[in-house]
Amino acid sequence: MEGFEDLRIVDNFYQTSSFFPMPTILIGTVSESGETNLGSYSLCFPYYIAGKDYYAMLLECRNSSNTCQNILRTKKCSLNFIPDSKKFFREAVRLGFPGDTTEQKMKDCIFNLIPSPLGEGRPKLVDEAFQVFECTWDDTLEDAYQDKPGSLEGYEPPYRNFNGITSKFGAHFILKVDKIRMKKKYYDAIINGVKASAFPAVPVDYGYRDSTNFWMSRFRRPFPEKIQAKEGDVSSVIYAAKRIDPDVVFTDEACARLTKIPRVFLKAALTQMVEIAKSEGISVIDPDALNIINDKRRSEKKMKK
Ligand SMILES: Cc1cc2nc3c(=O)[nH]c(=O)nc-3n(C[C@H](O)[C@H](O)[C@H](O)COP(=O)(O)O)c2cc1C
Repeated sequence: MEGFEDLRIVDNFYQTSSFFPMPTILIGTVSESGETNLGSYSLCFPYYIAGKDYYAMLLECRNSSNTCQNILRTKKCSLNFIPDSKKFFREAVRLGFPGDTTEQKMKDCIFNLIPSPLGEGRPKLVDEAFQVFECTWDDTLEDAYQDKPGSLEGYEPPYRNFNGITSKFGAHFILKVDKIRMKKKYYDAIINGVKASAFPAVPVDYGYRDSTNFWMSRFRRPFPEKIQAKEGDVSSVIYAAKRIDPDVVFTDEACARLTKIPRVFLKAALTQMVEIAKSEGISVIDPDALNIINDKRRSEKKMKK
């Protein structure tokens, strides 16, 4: 194909055959002796983001790692997102060297560890992180609670598809997000409105690596790009609003204020507004009622945070 060369897809294709932008996370877990172990991980992404009973991350890791063995045993971990710093990245690469025991790697660790507010039995948090997710492995999915620690030379089949031990040397963990902890400066930005100067210095792990180096890019101040809202036609909002619930009426003025909601989300947004209207005893949604409903939606969102 003109312009593109065909690369062979091999094991660890995200590292060997591509440039794949990823986060740099130090995963804290509790070792058998009760000490917090830090391992470096990039293959860790949001998994359940909406529409489920809980929110979850997905971690992909080597099953003989301290991290995997500790999660199988204790189910708890902290995902510590480290900021851009050459010193921190050098330490992450050191903590990412396979085979070191917790005692060996944590003896000279440069990161400060602080206790989890969730209490005993939880791994400590990295104080230098800009955000930390405290998580619990959901071992009920795919009956993964049957997977036990201890097989450091590789696991025998059968393997699970997506949760627990998934191959001879691999594991996947679906991690319920118990807490998102954010440094005050960035918390304030998210709550009060972000500007470019209020973003944490997030580094990007390039994915690609060879036997000599990991590669990382430095943080640069982010820039905004306006979402090009395609304003819908008021008559289509009026049409949809009439079909949500016969007991709740939207006025044409209220509909005129809803033309920026993307068409694919319109029905869900109107349905949610009707639910709130009913819970507030509102049967006619005019612009004033819309203000009340929107305040309620915002405060519910804030409470979830
Ligand atoms: C930046 C970086 C990212 C890494 N990402 C992963 C990953 O996503 N999954 C994995 O299995 N190993 C990954 N590694 C390798 C692990 O860190 C390595 O297996 C290490 O031994 C894990 O530590 P632990 O045994 O204390 O868990 C990464 C290493 C580095 C330096």
